[in-house]
Amino acid sequence: MKTTTNLQRRKLLKYAAIGIAGAVTYPSWTQAAGEFVKVNKPSADFLPDVEIELTMNTAEVPILNGEKTRIWKITGKVMTGPSGVLDNNEGTYLAPTLRFKKGQKVRLILNNNLPAQSILHWHGLHVPANMDGNPMYAIDRGETYVYEFEILNRAGTYFYHAHTHSVTARQVYSGLAGLLIVSDDQEQALHLPSGDHDVPLVIQDRSFDGQNQLVYSANMMQRMQGFLGDQILVNGRPDFVLPVATRAYRLRLVNGSNSRIYKLAWDNGTPMTVIGVDGGLLEKPEQHAYVMLAPGQRRELWVDFSSLEIGTELTLRSLQFDIDTHSGMGMMGRRGGMMGHGMMGHGHGMMGGMMSASTLPSGSDYPILKVRASKKEQGDNTLPKTLTPITELYTKNAANAGNPKTIALSMAHMSALLNGRSYKMDDIQPDEIIPVNSLQLIEFDNGFDGSRHGMMMDMPHPMHLHGEQFQIVKREVGPHVTENYASVSSGLIDSGWQDTVLVMPGEKVTILKPFNDFKGLFMYHCHNLEHEDMGMMRDFLIK
Ligand code: C2O
Ligand code: CU
Repeated sequence: MKTTTNLQRRKLLKYAAIGIAGAVTYPSWTQAAGEFVKVNKPSADFLPDVEIELTMNTAEVPILNGEKTRIWKITGKVMTGPSGVLDNNEGTYLAPTLRFKKGQKVRLILNNNLPAQSILHWHGLHVPANMDGNPMYAIDRGETYVYEFEILNRAGTYFYHAHTHSVTARQVYSGLAGLLIVSDDQEQALHLPSGDHDVPLVIQDRSFDGQNQLVYSANMMQRMQGFLGDQILVNGRPDFVLPVATRAYRLRLVNGSNSRIYKLAWDNGTPMTVIGVDGGLLEKPEQHAYVMLAPGQRRELWVDFSSLEIGTELTLRSLQFDIDTHSGMGMMGRRGGMMGHGMMGHGHGMMGGMMSASTLPSGSDYPILKVRASKKEQGDNTLPKTLTPITELYTKNAANAGNPKTIALSMAHMSALLNGRSYKMDDIQPDEIIPVNSLQLIEFDNGFDGSRHGMMMDMPHPMHLHGEQFQIVKREVGPHVTENYASVSSGLIDSGWQDTVLVMPGEKVTILKPFNDFKGLFMYHCHNLEHEDMGMMRDFLIK
Protein backbone atom coordinates (compact mmCIF):
# COMPACT_ATOMS: atom_id res chain seq x y z
CA MET A 1 0.00 0.00 0.00
CA LYS A 2 1.31 3.39 -0.98
CA THR A 3 1.20 5.47 2.15
CA THR A 4 2.87 8.72 1.25
CA THR A 5 1.10 11.01 -1.18
CA ASN A 6 2.87 13.92 -2.80
CA LEU A 7 1.02 16.31 -0.56
CA GLN A 8 2.04 14.41 2.52
CA ARG A 9 5.63 14.33 1.31
CA ARG A 10 5.61 18.07 0.80
CA LYS A 11 4.23 18.55 4.27
CA LEU A 12 6.85 16.29 5.73
CA LEU A 13 9.52 18.28 3.96
CA LYS A 14 8.08 21.49 5.28
CA TYR A 15 8.11 20.27 8.84
CA ALA A 16 11.47 18.66 8.43
CA ALA A 17 12.79 22.03 7.37
CA ILE A 18 11.43 23.58 10.54
CA GLY A 19 13.00 20.75 12.48
CA ILE A 20 16.39 21.27 10.91
CA ALA A 21 16.24 25.01 11.33
CA GLY A 22 15.59 24.41 14.97
CA ALA A 23 18.11 21.63 15.45
CA VAL A 24 20.72 22.49 18.01
CA THR A 25 23.57 20.58 19.43
CA TYR A 26 23.44 20.30 23.17
CA PRO A 27 26.59 20.78 25.13
CA SER A 28 27.27 17.89 27.42
CA TRP A 29 25.86 18.55 30.83
CA THR A 30 28.22 18.52 33.74
CA GLN A 31 26.97 16.94 36.92
CA ALA A 32 28.59 19.73 38.90
CA ALA A 33 26.00 22.33 38.04
CA GLY A 34 22.79 20.53 38.81
CA GLU A 35 21.14 17.18 38.96
CA PHE A 36 20.55 16.33 35.33
CA VAL A 37 18.25 13.37 35.30
CA LYS A 38 16.28 12.77 32.15
CA VAL A 39 13.31 10.62 33.01
CA ASN A 40 11.91 8.21 30.49
CA LYS A 41 10.28 5.62 32.73
CA PRO A 42 7.56 5.84 35.35
CA SER A 43 8.94 5.26 38.81
CA ALA A 44 7.59 2.31 40.73
CA ASP A 45 7.19 4.14 44.03
CA PHE A 46 5.15 7.04 42.63
CA LEU A 47 1.44 6.27 42.88
CA PRO A 48 -0.39 8.73 40.65
CA ASP A 49 -3.95 9.97 41.29
CA VAL A 50 -3.97 11.05 37.67
CA GLU A 51 -2.02 9.59 34.81
CA ILE A 52 -2.26 11.10 31.35
CA GLU A 53 -0.43 10.26 28.18
CA LEU A 54 0.25 13.34 26.04
CA THR A 55 1.35 12.85 22.46
CA MET A 56 2.72 15.60 20.24
CA ASN A 57 1.96 15.15 16.57
CA THR A 58 1.55 17.01 13.34
CA ALA A 59 -2.12 17.54 12.49
CA GLU A 60 -4.56 19.59 10.44
CA VAL A 61 -7.45 21.55 11.86
CA PRO A 62 -10.09 23.84 10.38
CA ILE A 63 -9.40 27.40 11.57
CA LEU A 64 -10.45 29.62 8.67
CA ASN A 65 -13.02 28.88 5.97
CA GLY A 66 -11.63 26.59 3.31
CA GLU A 67 -8.40 24.68 3.63
CA LYS A 68 -7.38 23.19 6.92
CA THR A 69 -4.34 24.53 8.71
CA ARG A 70 -1.32 22.36 9.46
CA ILE A 71 -0.43 22.62 13.11
CA TRP A 72 1.35 20.79 15.90
CA LYS A 73 -1.17 19.19 18.20
CA ILE A 74 -0.91 17.65 21.62
CA THR A 75 -3.51 14.96 22.27
CA GLY A 76 -4.07 13.46 25.66
CA LYS A 77 -5.39 10.13 26.90
CA VAL A 78 -6.42 9.57 30.51
CA MET A 79 -4.94 6.34 31.85
CA THR A 80 -5.93 6.90 35.49
CA GLY A 81 -8.04 9.58 37.06
CA PRO A 82 -11.44 11.23 37.27
CA SER A 83 -13.38 12.27 34.20
CA GLY A 84 -13.16 15.96 33.46
CA VAL A 85 -9.43 15.93 34.06
CA LEU A 86 -8.75 16.33 30.34
CA ASP A 87 -10.34 18.14 27.42
CA ASN A 88 -8.49 17.64 24.16
CA ASN A 89 -9.89 20.82 22.56
CA GLU A 90 -10.41 18.78 19.44
CA GLY A 91 -10.58 20.59 16.14
CA THR A 92 -8.30 23.37 17.40
CA TYR A 93 -4.54 23.73 17.75
CA LEU A 94 -4.87 24.27 21.49
CA ALA A 95 -3.23 21.63 23.61
CA PRO A 96 -5.51 19.75 25.99
CA THR A 97 -6.92 21.62 28.97
CA LEU A 98 -5.81 19.79 32.12
CA ARG A 99 -7.81 20.17 35.34
CA PHE A 100 -6.10 19.12 38.53
CA LYS A 101 -6.73 19.49 42.24
CA LYS A 102 -4.19 20.72 44.72
CA GLY A 103 -2.54 17.72 46.38
CA GLN A 104 -3.06 15.34 43.46
CA LYS A 105 -0.13 13.32 42.30
CA VAL A 106 0.07 13.45 38.54
CA ARG A 107 2.03 11.48 36.02
CA LEU A 108 2.24 12.96 32.52
CA ILE A 109 3.81 10.74 29.90
CA LEU A 110 4.95 12.88 27.02
CA ASN A 111 5.54 11.24 23.64
CA ASN A 112 7.19 13.20 20.87
CA ASN A 113 6.03 12.27 17.37
CA LEU A 114 7.08 15.60 15.89
CA PRO A 115 9.83 16.01 13.34
CA ALA A 116 11.72 18.09 15.89
CA GLN A 117 13.00 18.02 19.43
CA SER A 118 10.66 19.35 22.07
CA ILE A 119 9.88 19.48 25.77
CA LEU A 120 6.98 20.88 27.80
CA HIS A 121 7.19 23.32 30.72
CA TRP A 122 4.42 23.73 33.32
CA HIS A 123 4.31 27.51 33.53
CA GLY A 124 3.60 28.68 37.07
CA LEU A 125 3.82 25.30 38.76
CA HIS A 126 6.16 24.56 41.65
CA VAL A 127 7.71 21.25 40.61
CA PRO A 128 11.17 19.61 40.93
CA ALA A 129 13.84 20.85 38.53
CA ASN A 130 13.83 17.77 36.34
CA MET A 131 10.03 17.97 36.03
CA ASP A 132 10.11 21.61 34.95
CA GLY A 133 10.79 21.24 31.24
CA ASN A 134 14.17 22.92 31.13
CA PRO A 135 15.34 22.91 27.47
CA MET A 136 18.16 20.53 28.34
CA TYR A 137 15.52 17.82 28.75
CA ALA A 138 14.28 18.11 25.17
CA ILE A 139 13.41 14.77 23.63
CA ASP A 140 13.73 13.68 20.02
CA ARG A 141 11.04 12.22 17.83
CA GLY A 142 10.16 8.78 19.10
CA GLU A 143 11.29 9.54 22.64
CA THR A 144 9.27 9.80 25.83
CA TYR A 145 9.62 11.99 28.91
CA VAL A 146 7.83 11.04 32.09
CA TYR A 147 6.78 13.83 34.46
CA GLU A 148 5.74 12.92 37.98
CA PHE A 149 4.88 15.56 40.52
CA GLU A 150 2.42 16.60 43.17
CA ILE A 151 0.28 19.66 42.56
CA LEU A 152 1.58 22.02 45.25
CA ASN A 153 0.11 25.20 43.79
CA ARG A 154 -2.99 26.90 45.07
CA ALA A 155 -6.04 27.08 42.80
CA GLY A 156 -5.37 29.11 39.70
CA THR A 157 -5.10 29.30 35.95
CA TYR A 158 -1.76 27.88 34.92
CA PHE A 159 -0.36 27.25 31.51
CA TYR A 160 1.97 24.80 29.78
CA HIS A 161 3.94 25.06 26.60
CA ALA A 162 6.98 23.93 24.63
CA HIS A 163 10.28 25.19 26.00
CA THR A 164 12.71 23.96 23.40
CA HIS A 165 16.02 25.79 23.10
CA SER A 166 15.90 28.54 20.44
CA VAL A 167 12.60 27.32 18.92
CA THR A 168 10.12 27.90 21.73
CA ALA A 169 8.46 30.73 19.80
CA ARG A 170 7.73 28.75 16.65
CA GLN A 171 6.73 25.64 18.58
CA VAL A 172 4.23 27.53 20.72
CA TYR A 173 3.02 29.30 17.59
CA SER A 174 2.46 25.93 15.90
CA GLY A 175 0.20 24.83 18.76
CA LEU A 176 2.30 23.50 21.61
CA ALA A 177 0.55 25.37 24.43
CA GLY A 178 -2.44 24.71 26.64
CA LEU A 179 -4.13 25.41 29.95
CA LEU A 180 -3.61 23.73 33.27
CA ILE A 181 -6.29 24.66 35.76
CA VAL A 182 -5.86 23.89 39.44
CA SER A 183 -8.69 23.96 41.96
CA ASP A 184 -8.64 23.59 45.73
CA ASP A 185 -11.09 23.51 48.65
CA GLN A 186 -10.58 27.13 49.62
CA GLU A 187 -11.51 28.29 46.14
CA GLN A 188 -14.47 25.89 45.89
CA ALA A 189 -15.89 27.24 49.16
CA LEU A 190 -16.31 30.67 47.53
CA HIS A 191 -18.88 29.32 45.05
CA LEU A 192 -17.64 31.49 42.23
CA PRO A 193 -19.34 30.91 38.88
CA SER A 194 -18.42 27.38 37.82
CA GLY A 195 -19.07 24.80 35.10
CA ASP A 196 -20.34 26.53 31.95
CA HIS A 197 -20.00 29.85 33.74
CA ASP A 198 -16.25 29.48 34.25
CA VAL A 199 -14.67 30.13 30.86
CA PRO A 200 -10.95 30.04 30.02
CA LEU A 201 -10.05 32.36 27.14
CA VAL A 202 -6.64 31.91 25.56
CA ILE A 203 -5.78 34.99 23.49
CA GLN A 204 -3.25 34.59 20.68
CA ASP A 205 -2.33 36.25 17.41
CA ARG A 206 -1.56 34.43 14.19
CA SER A 207 -0.92 35.18 10.53
CA PHE A 208 -2.14 32.99 7.70
CA ASP A 209 -1.11 32.74 4.06
CA GLY A 210 -3.50 32.42 1.10
CA GLN A 211 -3.75 28.67 1.69
CA ASN A 212 -4.77 29.15 5.33
CA GLN A 213 -1.35 28.03 6.56
CA LEU A 214 0.34 29.62 9.55
CA VAL A 215 2.99 32.14 8.67
CA TYR A 216 5.85 32.61 11.05
CA SER A 217 8.66 34.86 10.08
CA ALA A 218 11.51 35.65 12.36
CA ASN A 219 13.51 38.26 10.53
CA MET A 220 15.60 40.71 12.51
CA MET A 221 12.79 43.18 13.06
CA GLN A 222 10.33 40.48 14.03
CA ARG A 223 12.74 39.08 16.52
CA MET A 224 13.70 42.39 18.09
CA GLN A 225 10.10 43.46 18.44
CA GLY A 226 8.65 39.99 18.81
CA PHE A 227 6.37 38.32 16.30
CA LEU A 228 3.01 40.01 15.80
CA GLY A 229 0.24 38.21 13.95
CA ASP A 230 -2.45 39.85 11.80
CA GLN A 231 -5.39 38.16 13.42
CA ILE A 232 -6.59 37.58 16.96
CA LEU A 233 -7.64 34.05 17.86
CA VAL A 234 -9.39 33.10 21.08
CA ASN A 235 -9.21 29.45 22.11
CA GLY A 236 -7.83 28.82 18.64
CA ARG A 237 -10.81 30.43 16.84
CA PRO A 238 -11.03 33.66 14.84
CA ASP A 239 -13.95 36.10 15.37
CA PHE A 240 -14.66 34.48 18.69
CA VAL A 241 -18.16 34.90 20.09
CA LEU A 242 -19.03 33.66 23.56
CA PRO A 243 -22.74 33.03 24.03
CA VAL A 244 -23.64 33.78 27.63
CA ALA A 245 -26.59 33.60 29.96
CA THR A 246 -27.70 36.73 31.79
CA ARG A 247 -25.81 36.05 35.00
CA ALA A 248 -22.32 36.26 36.54
CA TYR A 249 -19.32 34.57 34.93
CA ARG A 250 -15.74 33.85 35.77
CA LEU A 251 -13.50 34.52 32.76
CA ARG A 252 -9.92 33.28 32.84
CA LEU A 253 -7.86 35.36 30.43
CA VAL A 254 -4.58 33.89 29.29
CA ASN A 255 -2.10 35.61 27.00
CA GLY A 256 -0.69 32.74 24.93
CA SER A 257 0.72 35.06 22.27
CA ASN A 258 4.40 35.08 21.38
CA SER A 259 4.96 38.77 22.00
CA ARG A 260 1.74 40.75 21.80
CA ILE A 261 0.72 42.76 24.85
CA TYR A 262 -2.99 43.52 25.33
CA LYS A 263 -4.76 46.38 27.07
CA LEU A 264 -8.13 44.80 27.70
CA ALA A 265 -11.38 46.63 28.38
CA TRP A 266 -15.11 46.24 27.83
CA ASP A 267 -16.34 48.49 25.03
CA ASN A 268 -19.33 49.79 27.02
CA GLY A 269 -17.06 51.25 29.68
CA THR A 270 -17.92 48.72 32.40
CA PRO A 271 -14.87 48.48 34.64
CA MET A 272 -12.96 45.21 34.68
CA THR A 273 -13.43 43.33 37.94
CA VAL A 274 -10.23 41.36 38.50
CA ILE A 275 -10.43 38.44 40.92
CA GLY A 276 -7.28 36.54 40.06
CA VAL A 277 -3.81 36.78 38.56
CA ASP A 278 -1.07 34.29 37.57
CA GLY A 279 -0.99 32.46 40.87
CA GLY A 280 -4.71 32.33 41.59
CA LEU A 281 -7.29 34.44 43.36
CA LEU A 282 -6.56 37.82 44.92
CA GLU A 283 -7.48 38.66 48.51
CA LYS A 284 -10.26 40.82 47.25
CA PRO A 285 -11.64 41.88 43.87
CA GLU A 286 -10.08 44.92 42.21
CA GLN A 287 -11.66 47.24 39.68
CA HIS A 288 -9.64 48.63 36.81
CA ALA A 289 -10.69 50.63 33.76
CA TYR A 290 -8.50 48.29 31.72
CA VAL A 291 -6.17 45.36 32.31
CA MET A 292 -2.73 44.90 30.76
CA LEU A 293 -2.03 41.30 29.76
CA ALA A 294 1.50 40.44 28.69
CA PRO A 295 2.64 37.12 27.18
CA GLY A 296 2.58 34.36 29.78
CA GLN A 297 0.28 36.28 32.15
CA ARG A 298 -3.20 35.32 33.36
CA ARG A 299 -5.92 37.57 34.73
CA GLU A 300 -9.27 36.31 35.99
CA LEU A 301 -12.36 38.47 35.71
CA TRP A 302 -15.70 38.29 37.39
CA VAL A 303 -18.37 39.78 35.21
CA ASP A 304 -22.09 40.11 35.59
CA PHE A 305 -24.01 39.92 32.31
CA SER A 306 -27.45 40.09 33.95
CA SER A 307 -28.20 43.58 32.62
CA LEU A 308 -27.62 42.57 28.98
CA GLU A 309 -30.72 42.36 26.79
CA ILE A 310 -31.06 39.05 25.01
CA GLY A 311 -29.46 39.32 21.58
CA THR A 312 -27.15 42.20 22.50
CA GLU A 313 -23.38 42.02 22.40
CA LEU A 314 -20.51 43.29 24.45
CA THR A 315 -17.01 43.50 23.00
CA LEU A 316 -13.75 42.93 24.78
CA ARG A 317 -11.21 45.19 23.07
CA SER A 318 -7.54 45.85 23.25
CA LEU A 319 -7.23 49.63 23.56
CA GLN A 320 -4.61 51.97 22.17
CA PHE A 321 -1.40 52.34 24.21
CA ASP A 322 2.23 53.29 23.75
CA ILE A 323 4.73 50.53 24.40
CA ASP A 324 7.53 53.03 24.48
CA THR A 325 7.32 54.79 27.80
CA HIS A 326 10.86 56.08 27.77
CA SER A 327 12.31 59.24 26.26
CA GLY A 328 15.55 57.62 25.18
CA MET A 329 16.76 58.15 21.63
CA GLY A 330 17.22 54.41 21.35
CA MET A 331 17.79 52.84 17.97
CA MET A 332 14.19 51.85 17.47
CA GLY A 333 12.53 52.38 20.76
CA ARG A 334 10.97 55.72 20.26
CA ARG A 335 7.89 56.10 18.16
CA GLY A 336 9.40 57.49 15.04
CA GLY A 337 12.40 55.28 15.54
CA MET A 338 15.59 56.15 13.71
CA MET A 339 13.78 58.82 11.77
CA GLY A 340 13.20 60.84 14.90
CA HIS A 341 9.88 61.84 16.32
CA GLY A 342 7.60 63.65 13.94
CA MET A 343 9.08 62.64 10.61
CA MET A 344 6.91 59.59 10.42
CA GLY A 345 3.92 61.30 11.91
CA HIS A 346 2.49 60.58 15.31
CA GLY A 347 1.49 57.01 15.92
CA HIS A 348 3.21 55.67 12.85
CA GLY A 349 6.72 55.15 14.09
CA MET A 350 8.97 52.67 12.39
CA MET A 351 8.37 50.08 15.06
CA GLY A 352 4.74 50.90 15.58
CA GLY A 353 3.70 50.87 11.98
CA MET A 354 5.72 50.80 8.82
CA MET A 355 8.32 48.23 9.73
CA SER A 356 5.99 46.02 11.67
CA ALA A 357 4.88 43.25 9.34
CA SER A 358 1.59 42.99 11.18
CA THR A 359 -1.57 44.71 10.05
CA LEU A 360 -2.40 44.91 13.77
CA PRO A 361 0.43 46.99 15.20
CA SER A 362 1.27 46.66 18.85
CA GLY A 363 -0.74 49.12 20.91
CA SER A 364 -3.42 49.74 18.29
CA ASP A 365 -7.13 49.48 19.05
CA TYR A 366 -8.88 46.28 17.94
CA PRO A 367 -11.54 43.81 19.11
CA ILE A 368 -10.57 40.58 20.92
CA LEU A 369 -13.91 38.81 21.31
CA LYS A 370 -17.63 39.34 21.61
CA VAL A 371 -19.97 38.23 24.34
CA ARG A 372 -23.55 37.67 23.17
CA ALA A 373 -26.42 37.44 25.63
CA SER A 374 -28.27 34.38 24.42
CA LYS A 375 -30.44 33.18 27.26
CA LYS A 376 -32.09 34.34 30.45
CA GLU A 377 -30.86 32.68 33.55
CA GLN A 378 -31.19 33.31 37.24
CA GLY A 379 -27.82 32.87 38.87
CA ASP A 380 -26.16 33.89 42.06
CA ASN A 381 -24.75 37.21 40.96
CA THR A 382 -23.06 38.33 44.15
CA LEU A 383 -19.36 38.80 44.06
CA PRO A 384 -17.73 37.82 47.37
CA LYS A 385 -16.15 40.84 49.09
CA THR A 386 -13.13 38.82 50.06
CA LEU A 387 -11.59 35.96 48.09
CA THR A 388 -8.66 33.90 49.37
CA PRO A 389 -6.13 35.11 51.95
CA ILE A 390 -2.60 35.72 50.74
CA THR A 391 0.40 35.34 53.03
CA GLU A 392 2.35 38.51 52.51
CA LEU A 393 6.09 38.24 51.98
CA TYR A 394 8.28 40.80 53.74
CA THR A 395 11.52 42.28 52.45
CA LYS A 396 13.07 42.01 55.89
CA ASN A 397 12.78 38.23 55.62
CA ALA A 398 14.72 38.05 52.36
CA ALA A 399 18.14 36.37 52.57
CA ASN A 400 19.52 39.37 50.66
CA ALA A 401 17.27 42.04 52.18
CA GLY A 402 19.84 44.85 51.96
CA ASN A 403 21.32 43.74 48.68
CA PRO A 404 18.76 43.00 45.97
CA LYS A 405 19.80 40.82 43.07
CA THR A 406 19.61 43.08 40.03
CA ILE A 407 18.70 41.74 36.62
CA ALA A 408 19.35 44.34 33.94
CA LEU A 409 17.21 43.95 30.84
CA SER A 410 18.70 45.17 27.60
CA MET A 411 18.49 44.86 23.85
CA ALA A 412 20.98 45.92 21.27
CA HIS A 413 21.45 45.01 17.65
CA MET A 414 20.83 41.27 17.43
CA SER A 415 20.88 40.46 21.09
CA ALA A 416 18.51 40.46 24.03
CA LEU A 417 20.37 40.16 27.30
CA LEU A 418 20.01 39.63 31.04
CA ASN A 419 22.83 41.32 32.94
CA GLY A 420 24.67 41.52 29.64
CA ARG A 421 24.52 37.76 29.17
CA SER A 422 22.86 35.57 26.62
CA TYR A 423 21.42 32.10 27.30
CA LYS A 424 23.84 29.23 27.41
CA MET A 425 23.26 25.82 28.85
CA ASP A 426 25.55 24.88 31.67
CA ASP A 427 26.79 28.41 32.27
CA ILE A 428 25.87 29.28 35.83
CA GLN A 429 27.58 32.45 37.08
CA PRO A 430 28.18 33.08 40.80
CA ASP A 431 25.33 35.60 41.05
CA GLU A 432 22.97 32.95 39.67
CA ILE A 433 23.44 30.52 42.54
CA ILE A 434 20.69 30.71 45.16
CA PRO A 435 20.48 28.78 48.42
CA VAL A 436 17.50 26.46 48.59
CA ASN A 437 14.71 27.45 50.99
CA SER A 438 15.61 31.13 50.80
CA LEU A 439 13.53 34.18 50.02
CA GLN A 440 15.22 36.49 47.51
CA LEU A 441 14.76 40.14 46.71
CA ILE A 442 15.16 40.60 42.95
CA GLU A 443 14.92 43.76 40.88
CA PHE A 444 14.38 43.94 37.16
CA ASP A 445 15.96 47.06 35.74
CA ASN A 446 14.72 48.06 32.28
CA GLY A 447 16.88 51.15 31.74
CA PHE A 448 15.68 52.78 34.95
CA ASP A 449 18.40 55.42 35.29
CA GLY A 450 18.24 56.48 31.66
CA SER A 451 21.98 56.11 31.17
CA ARG A 452 21.62 53.89 28.15
CA HIS A 453 20.14 56.63 25.96
CA GLY A 454 21.20 56.28 22.39
CA MET A 455 22.55 52.78 22.71
CA MET A 456 19.77 50.40 23.53
CA MET A 457 16.42 49.59 22.18
CA ASP A 458 13.65 50.26 24.63
CA MET A 459 11.13 47.47 24.84
CA PRO A 460 8.73 46.19 27.47
CA HIS A 461 9.82 42.80 28.81
CA PRO A 462 7.41 40.38 30.52
CA MET A 463 9.80 38.70 32.94
CA HIS A 464 8.98 35.15 34.01
CA LEU A 465 10.62 33.05 36.69
CA HIS A 466 10.22 29.31 36.92
CA GLY A 467 9.35 27.64 40.19
CA GLU A 468 7.33 29.24 42.95
CA GLN A 469 5.15 32.26 42.44
CA PHE A 470 6.45 35.61 43.64
CA GLN A 471 5.04 38.89 44.99
CA ILE A 472 5.69 42.32 43.53
CA VAL A 473 7.10 44.69 46.13
CA LYS A 474 7.33 47.91 44.15
CA ARG A 475 7.41 49.41 40.73
CA GLU A 476 9.62 52.47 40.27
CA VAL A 477 9.53 54.81 37.36
CA GLY A 478 12.80 56.33 36.15
CA PRO A 479 13.48 60.01 35.45
CA HIS A 480 13.08 59.64 31.69
CA VAL A 481 9.70 57.97 31.65
CA THR A 482 7.25 59.97 29.53
CA GLU A 483 3.54 60.66 29.66
CA ASN A 484 3.09 57.55 27.49
CA TYR A 485 3.42 55.57 30.69
CA ALA A 486 -0.04 56.73 31.73
CA SER A 487 -1.46 54.74 28.80
CA VAL A 488 -0.60 51.45 30.54
CA SER A 489 0.10 52.09 34.22
CA SER A 490 -3.31 51.66 35.80
CA GLY A 491 -3.76 48.29 34.09
CA LEU A 492 -0.63 46.75 35.62
CA ILE A 493 -1.97 44.55 38.39
CA ASP A 494 0.74 43.88 40.93
CA SER A 495 -1.17 42.27 43.77
CA GLY A 496 -1.39 38.59 44.59
CA TRP A 497 0.91 35.78 43.48
CA GLN A 498 2.58 36.28 40.12
CA ASP A 499 4.95 34.42 37.84
CA THR A 500 5.33 36.91 35.00
CA VAL A 501 5.75 40.64 35.50
CA LEU A 502 5.66 43.24 32.75
CA VAL A 503 8.59 45.64 33.06
CA MET A 504 8.07 48.75 30.96
CA PRO A 505 10.96 50.79 29.48
CA GLY A 506 12.40 53.07 32.17
CA GLU A 507 10.99 51.00 35.02
CA LYS A 508 12.52 49.09 37.87
CA VAL A 509 10.34 46.39 39.40
CA THR A 510 11.25 44.70 42.67
CA ILE A 511 9.91 41.29 43.62
CA LEU A 512 10.20 38.84 46.49
CA LYS A 513 10.53 35.25 45.38
CA PRO A 514 10.75 32.13 47.51
CA PHE A 515 13.03 29.33 46.30
CA ASN A 516 11.75 26.52 48.46
CA ASP A 517 11.86 22.71 48.37
CA PHE A 518 13.68 21.93 45.14
CA LYS A 519 17.32 22.14 44.13
CA GLY A 520 18.55 22.34 40.58
CA LEU A 521 18.07 24.64 37.62
CA PHE A 522 15.13 27.04 37.39
CA MET A 523 14.97 29.48 34.53
CA TYR A 524 14.33 33.18 34.46
CA HIS A 525 13.59 34.81 31.14
CA CYS A 526 11.64 37.25 29.07
CA HIS A 527 8.30 35.75 27.99
CA ASN A 528 8.36 37.63 24.72
CA LEU A 529 9.15 34.31 23.05
CA GLU A 530 11.27 35.85 20.31
CA HIS A 531 13.36 37.57 22.99
CA GLU A 532 13.60 34.28 24.87
CA ASP A 533 14.79 32.47 21.76
CA MET A 534 17.30 35.25 21.05
CA GLY A 535 18.88 34.47 24.38
CA MET A 536 17.05 36.61 26.91
CA MET A 537 16.96 33.65 29.26
CA ARG A 538 19.20 32.29 32.01
CA ASP A 539 19.15 29.62 34.70
CA PHE A 540 19.32 30.03 38.45
CA LEU A 541 20.98 27.14 40.19
CA ILE A 542 19.25 26.43 43.48
CA LYS A 543 21.46 24.51 45.86
CU1 C2O B 1 6.11 30.09 30.11
CU2 C2O B 1 10.05 29.46 30.78
O1 C2O B 1 8.10 29.78 30.36
CU1 CU C 1 11.77 40.81 26.23
